[in-house]
Amino acid sequence: MKVLIHGGFFSESSQSDGIKTAKQEAMKRIISLTHNYLCNHSARETVVYAVRLLEDDPLFNAGTGSQIQRDGVIRMSASVMDGQSKKFSGVINIEGLKNPIDVAALLQNVEDRVLGAEGANAFATSKGIEKFSTETPQRRKEFEEKMASNGIGTVGCVALDANGNLAAATSTGGKGFEIPGRISDSATVAGNFANDNCAVSCTGVGEDIVSIAVAAKIVTRVTDGMNIQSAFNCTFSELKGIDGFAGAIGIDKRGNMFWQESHPKIVFAAFDGINLTIFK
Ligand code: GLY
Repeated sequence: MKVLIHGGFFSESSQSDGIKTAKQEAMKRIISLTHNYLCNHSARETVVYAVRLLEDDPLFNAGTGSQIQRDGVIRMSASVMDGQSKKFSGVINIEGLKNPIDVAALLQNVEDRVLGAEGANAFATSKGIEKFSTETPQRRKEFEEKMASNGIGTVGCVALDANGNLAAATSTGGKGFEIPGRISDSATVAGNFANDNCAVSCTGVGEDIVSIAVAAKIVTRVTDGMNIQSAFNCTFSELKGIDGFAGAIGIDKRGNMFWQESHPKIVFAAFDGINLTIFK
């Protein structure tokens, strides 16, 4: 059993030393709760659990603490991919609720598994999910000062459970100041992908992640026989070719964990039950 989480880049938002330390402490708390949870739950249940905890922490740009778009509205995106069933589900530009990842998880059991905007909101309401404002005073201040942080505070989790199954989940408040209607990578296979060989979750600038199809490409390369480190290296060299800005975390079916970033420094934590790593 192994689990890796990420909380975007340290450079996101106003990163005083105090905020950096708080993020590291949050990662430590959340990875430890998540590893305990993984002892009795599947990889799919665990990635949703971890991302929900990250969404609930206003330090991160997902759920509570999401960034505000150009028209003053918060729209969030999240997805889950179960490596065993190979089902991808997600919500794009959902509004006014606490945990987008819960709606993405509910969609695992629905025929139409990716919903956008009004359709995603209506589906959440039909499932009894309550309205909630995820705006924080810090994000309002950043919006008023036009301090967009460019989509680099996304959160995510990849897990390998006791039965050898893999899953990935990713959630974001987006780039900040984006044109309403912009689609994030986080609820696409470029930003979040898993099968029975590998699971990957990305953070960074969605347009760059989609242009290189980062998560899907790493997972495909591992599936085709490349080791996880080479698959990351190869994909990140393609990202460099477009001067892309992204980071990713991944686990393969043997439990090898890997992470990489185009620019320093992604906030992440990894735990295999013995060794705890908090960022590089
Ligand atoms: N990676 C988050 C976004 O670009 O929306």
